[in-house]
Parts: sequence; C-alpha cells; structure tokens
Amino acid sequence: MAKEVIRVGILGLGTVGSGTVQTLQENKKDIEQKIGARLEIKKIAVAHPDKKRPVPLEPGWITGDVNEVMDDPEIDIVAELIGGVEPARSYIDRALDSGKHIVTANKELLAKGGHELLTKAATHRLDFYFEGSVAGGIPIVQAMKIGLAANHIERVVGIVNGTTNYILTQMAQEGKDFAEALAEAQAKGYAEADPTNDVEGYDAAYKIAILASIAFMSRVDPEDIHAEGIARITAGDIRYARELGYAIKLLAIGRQENGSIQARVHPALLPFAHPLASVNDVFNAVFVRGSSVGEVMFFGRGAGALPTGSAVAADILEVARNIRFGSAGRIACTCFENKSVIPMDTIETKYYIRMKVSDKPKVLATIAGVFGEFGVSVESVVQKAVPTGESAEIVWVTHQALEKNVREALEVIARLPVVAEVSNWIRVEE
Ligand SMILES: NC(=O)c1ccc[n+]([C@@H]2O[C@H](COP(=O)([O-])OP(=O)(O)OC[C@H]3O[C@@H](n4cnc5c(N)ncnc54)[C@H](OP(=O)(O)O)[C@@H]3O)[C@@H](O)[C@H]2O)c1
Repeated sequence: MAKEVIRVGILGLGTVGSGTVQTLQENKKDIEQKIGARLEIKKIAVAHPDKKRPVPLEPGWITGDVNEVMDDPEIDIVAELIGGVEPARSYIDRALDSGKHIVTANKELLAKGGHELLTKAATHRLDFYFEGSVAGGIPIVQAMKIGLAANHIERVVGIVNGTTNYILTQMAQEGKDFAEALAEAQAKGYAEADPTNDVEGYDAAYKIAILASIAFMSRVDPEDIHAEGIARITAGDIRYARELGYAIKLLAIGRQENGSIQARVHPALLPFAHPLASVNDVFNAVFVRGSSVGEVMFFGRGAGALPTGSAVAADILEVARNIRFGSAGRIACTCFENKSVIPMDTIETKYYIRMKVSDKPKVLATIAGVFGEFGVSVESVVQKAVPTGESAEIVWVTHQALEKNVREALEVIARLPVVAEVSNWIRVEE
C-alpha cells in the first residue's frame, strides 16, 4: 500500500537548511497535494542545538545528536545540508545503508565523491538528488538529467559563482579595483571572510565538475579541472575589454570534442552580444548547447537561503513522490563512459594580452615577430597609454592559437629588453 506519510530528517539548519524548512512549511499544502501524501519534518540535527534559528520550528525538531536522524526507522529521506566532505560523506553513506533516500546541496562532496555515493544509492534502489549543489535556485541538474536527456550535449558554459560575478560587476560598473569590490562583497555578506574558494575558482570548478559529468556522461574529477580565479583582473583590463566589445566574466566551461572533454574555470573576455555577458551582480546563468535543442540558457539566483531552499525542497518533493509511487532509484548516475579531460596546453582559443613596453620604434614589430615564431597570429594591437613618455601599455588580441604556443611566446617576450612586463593575459571566448 502506498505510504500516507513521508518523513524527512535534515542534517544542518544554516543558510540552506533554513531556506529549505521555510519553503517546505510555507508551501506545505501545495507540496503535499503534488506528492499525494503528507510530508513531515521529523528531526533536524545541528552542531549547536541551542542557537537561535531564523525560521519557526516545531517543538522536538532540533537535536544535537545526528543518530536521532540516522537511527530513526520512520525517516525516509535525509537532506544533508552541512557541507564539506566529512562528516557529510559518512552520514550519507550510513543513511544509504539504512535504506534512506538522500537529498543534498553539497557541491564539494558531489564533485569529489559523488560517483561512489550515487552508485551505492543505485545499488540500493534509493534516490540521490542534488539540485541545490549547482547554481542554487536554477533547476539545471534536473534540466540536464531529464529535460535535455535525449540530446548529445556539446557544451555547457556557466557563470556559476555569484560572489565573483558581483565583484566583476562592481569593477565594470563602478570602476572599483578588485580589493575594493571584494571588501564590499564581504560587507554585504556575498563573500565569506576567507573568500579563497570563490575568488580562486575552486567553487566554480566543483560545479562544472558536476555539470560536465552529467552532460558528457563521464566522471570529471575536480583535480583535472584547470581553475583560475579573478584576483589578477584589473579595472584597466575591464575598461580595455569594454573598448574592444567584450565583458570579463568568470566562466566555468565544459565542452566535448572528439570523445574528450574540456573542463576549465577562468576569467574570459566574452562579446557583449553573448547572452552570458549581460548576467550581472550575484546572478548565475548556465548556457547549454544540445544536438537537438540547440542553445538553451538558464538564469537565476545561484545562492542564498530561499533560492537554494527552493531547489532542495523540490528534490525532497520529487523523492517523496517517487517513494509514494514506488518509483525511487530510477535516475541513477549516468557516467557510463570514461573520457579524458584534455590538458590546458592543448586548448585553442583567442587571447587578450596586456604588456608594458619601451616607447621606441620597432618594438611592436619585434614582439609580433616572436608571436609569429610560435605560430600565434595577431588580430589587433592597440597602444593604450604613454604615462611617462618612456613606456607604453599595449593590448594585443590574437587569433585562435594553441595555449602552449601562447605561453611559450610570452615567456620569450617577457625577457625582451624592450618589454618592461607582460602584465596580464586573458582568454577570449567567442
Ligand atoms: N549558502 C548558499 O547559498 C549555498 C548555495 C548552494 C549550495 N550550498 C551548499 O549547501 C550546504 C550547506 O551550506 P550553508 O551555507 O547552509 O552552510 P551553513 O550556513 O554553514 O550551515 C551548516 C549547518 O550544518 C550544521 N552542522 C555543522 N556541522 C555539523 C555536524 N557535524 N552535525 C550536524 N550539523 C552540523 C550547522 O549547525 P549549527 O547551525 O548548529 O552551527 C549548520 O546548521 C553546503 O554544502 C554548501 O556548499 C550553499
């Protein structure tokens, strides 16, 4: 007989846990109608049970002992909203052993150990949903797993980190430098006190590892993803890029070509006409190209209590519906293949390169000659400023070139007596 009551245990009641509980409570009637059964929160395990919470709680919900969730045979679904690899991984593992379905928003754990946990869930015919782990409120995981499942996915490119997008937007719109924009993001609660994970691109790398694994049906290990952050982008780069017709965005890029995968995170110049170029502030967007559907873009809030709570609560609803109709465990891991992630040196793209050189005759020709020796052809070169009369700032844009050749050319160019410094180089995505 179909279950009349489905019970949820929650691990963690921080930002996402609170947004999830609020969503489940506020929309309880609609959610239960969609499930066709009652949905009860039975227990919420936290680290500090006496802490004041921002959401109304029923008596008896909160516990400081995770075993009260793990060992309760009435709990059908465990929502892991603690974060980090341990103890989250052990808790999920244990919950699966006890026959509990899993919902999580934990991108780090998914990216590093998702494959094993998903396989275990499938073996036990249990659901394992993780919509909240990528791009918060944007339903991109379900879209890729269900809505676009019949496509061969060629490309998935996203702005998947709201903190860095906010910083870059402030730099572009207000002319702030990186440190000032970061300090403001921290003051507004968009960036953590230690912003390394966001600013260095690690958070985006976890997310593209998850998206690329789904899109290309092959496990992408975050260790194989080139992750480069935005700390070296200056307000000047953003200004010069704008003059050339480009915005600068931190992109998470997954591409599939000839049976291998490109997975990389780095700042990139993006033409203003590209739909991702106008995604500003803390917003996220993911652009997918599929063989049948063509181009699709998803846009919305990529973090925060309620947007992420929306994703987690929807997962809980869907798992509950599967339990109710006896269809749990259908959507297992789809990493059937074993494709390699190609090294950065072998990618081909265009490059924006800014350098300081002596303001003397033939300097440009000398530098262009070195580019030529390495097979890097130049699309345009502009002299931007002559601050003292002795040095000039030059911005080059190359045609498509092999990354290895560009790196090697720049090593030689940096040693030329007429070159004071190679100040920055940024990939250009068309
Ligand atoms: N924040 C976002 O906007 C966002 C967006 C998408 C995905 N995520 C992901 O969602 C997950 C949760 O993030 P969050 O921002 O909600 O974190 P958070 O605000 O730091 O909350 C973490 C919660 O876990 C509890 N906790 C910590 N250690 C525990 C333990 N050993 N046993 C039981 N409970 C424990 C904490 O308890 P106390 O409250 O008692 O200290 C707290 O309630 C992470 O995986 C994160 O990557 C977050």
